[in-house]
Amino acid sequence: MTTTDNKNSRVANASVEPMFTERWSSKAFTHKKLSEDEIASLFEAAHWAPSASNSQPWVFVYATDGPKREEFNSLLSDGNKRYAPDAPMMILVFARTVNDEGKKMRTAQFDTGAAWMSLALQANRMGLNTRGMGGIDLDAAYDVAGVPRDKFETVCAIVVGTRGTDEDLHERMVKENLANSRKSVSEMSFKDSYIG
Ligand SMILES: Cc1cc2nc3c(=O)[nH]c(=O)nc-3n(C[C@H](O)[C@H](O)[C@H](O)COP(=O)(O)O)c2cc1C
Repeated sequence: MTTTDNKNSRVANASVEPMFTERWSSKAFTHKKLSEDEIASLFEAAHWAPSASNSQPWVFVYATDGPKREEFNSLLSDGNKRYAPDAPMMILVFARTVNDEGKKMRTAQFDTGAAWMSLALQANRMGLNTRGMGGIDLDAAYDVAGVPRDKFETVCAIVVGTRGTDEDLHERMVKENLANSRKSVSEMSFKDSYIG
């Protein structure tokens, strides 16, 4: 596998655009820095995502290197500390769940998920790898990112970078658990009514 090879063994049963099966979350990253243009493209894609009343409740706070990145890394669970610090960019994701009138924004997490997926697919098209991570200190993330607790929920973190090579320890690790498996489509989509 080369550093830009996004191919995997995923096969779709129905016809879909290749980007859906070509995206996957490797744990192997190189240290290659992202350019300002690449970073701009990632957030450009995210900010076109749909949202309820066009509220765009997502907030992404990112760090690349230096002391601030060390602070970001300190939020990681032990498992995620094994690979995520390798990635040249880490993003903390927040959803604004309370609006200016103090009203709950019910679909904020859903909308933020749409923005993350846009970013992930854009990254994949650029030959980059992403991995979402719920395994972070959700409370400490507010202080590290300077995001107010009363209006936002911490959702997760994301690491982005160039996919590592076969030789990388973490690549071998992920091969053991490639997460290719999916529920069948009939277990998640139902005509007329849900059959549990
Ligand atoms: C919100 C979210 C949280 C996740 N948390 C973690 C995590 O803490 N650690 C980890 O190694 N992977 C994490 N993952 C990656 C998932 O395990 C991975 O997306 C899943 O196994 C499907 O694999 P794929 O992304 O390659 O399709 C997370 C993914 C998402 C979307």
